[in-house]
Amino acid sequence: MKLFIISGARPQFIKLAPIIEEILKRNDISLYHLHTGQHFDKNMSNIFFEELGLPSPDINLGINRGSHAELVGKMLIEIEKELIIQKPEAILVVGDTNSTIAGGLAAVKLQIPVIHLESGLRSNDFRMPEEINRRLTDHLCRLLITTSETATNNLIAEGIKKEWIFQTGDPMVDGILRNINKAEEKSSILKEHGLKSKEYVLLTMHRQENVDIKERIVSILESLKELNITIVYPIHPRTKKRIEEFGIEDFLDDEKWHIIKPVGYLDFIKLQKNAKIILTDSGGIQKEALTLNIPCITLRDNTEWVETLEIGANTLVGAEKAKIIEAVNNILQDENKYTNIRWENPYGDGRASKEIVVEIIRRYIEGELDTPTSYMIE
Ligand code: UD1
Ligand code: UDP
Repeated sequence: MKLFIISGARPQFIKLAPIIEEILKRNDISLYHLHTGQHFDKNMSNIFFEELGLPSPDINLGINRGSHAELVGKMLIEIEKELIIQKPEAILVVGDTNSTIAGGLAAVKLQIPVIHLESGLRSNDFRMPEEINRRLTDHLCRLLITTSETATNNLIAEGIKKEWIFQTGDPMVDGILRNINKAEEKSSILKEHGLKSKEYVLLTMHRQENVDIKERIVSILESLKELNITIVYPIHPRTKKRIEEFGIEDFLDDEKWHIIKPVGYLDFIKLQKNAKIILTDSGGIQKEALTLNIPCITLRDNTEWVETLEIGANTLVGAEKAKIIEAVNNILQDENKYTNIRWENPYGDGRASKEIVVEIIRRYIEGELDTPTSYMIE
């Protein structure tokens, strides 16, 4: 089977890594990997291939400038050309980025079956480009891989055929479980920055609905200013740009801040594992925090990862100053509660990637991916 996979943004390299590892163990899938170029700094892209020992993508389109429409439009045109040359039996897209929707749309128009990893999640918030990308991609697919009952039910409620859905665990959990020991052993990130385990908060913040809106980013930074604890912040290029444009660098001018460039995966896992609290607006990091048993506070008004809230591993605070401070203080004041906590992981136990690859091959062999009626909705 010839499988065409599409990546482009940081979380996609991480989600795809254990899947690619599984594919490389077999000899019945020939892989063609297209990188759209959406993320391009060394520490937002190449570093992950090097660290995780992944083969370089077969092609990098280098598309990363412009508005959402420009990006998706250019990707669509170039991905179509590659699909016509490569003639794959199926295409695998992942997550909710502009690269995801561009890949899915290009393929379905050529009647190439689309497989979507991380289907069915819904924030129901159309202010987020991710919600639009994920929803639309789901409705182009012939195999929708979900990582929770909630996601599966969302798809069924939207009229997607049950037999097109495959529910399993989450490859991001596989990635953490496969790499945590290596990260603890090999990463010297704490030493490099003079950090002590459990004596800092780890922050990531890059979502458009936070950092592109001055009031929201200022509100978050004001609340962090009031916290009396070291904050480690590998700053995303989008946020760095916005902070400079808004002229609000002063918020970060305090000894407690460790502002660093985005780091590689092993360093980031090490930073997560040794953090007292993780503060984030990332999607993936909410799951990784739970997997590493570190309490997470999410700087968003909603989350697709509702299980993290139900389990008590995550608290939603939006960009509201009082809520952020209260949530951080609640955790700091209740230290014992979190010291040896072990949450049951709703996203699996590390076997998902293998199951996904086996399922893709099974469906391909049994002709379920591309049936004569698979492009007709009843
Ligand atoms: C994208 C995803 C988001 C995901 C995030 C992961 C979409 C709509 N959004 O957001 O879901 O959470 O990736 O990190 O696809 N930039 C650099 N260097 C890089 C990467 C980006 O300078 O290596 C700059 C870009 O030029 C752009 C800005 O950062 O100015 C935003 O990049 P973009 O890829 O459009 O969106 P993200 O915010 O990264
Ligand atoms: N990550 C990383 N280095 C960093 C920040 C994040 O390796 O400096 C990893 C993190 O471990 C997780 C993924 O990037 O696997 C999350 O990606 P991001 O937050 O950019 O995207 P989102 O999940 O919000 O789409």
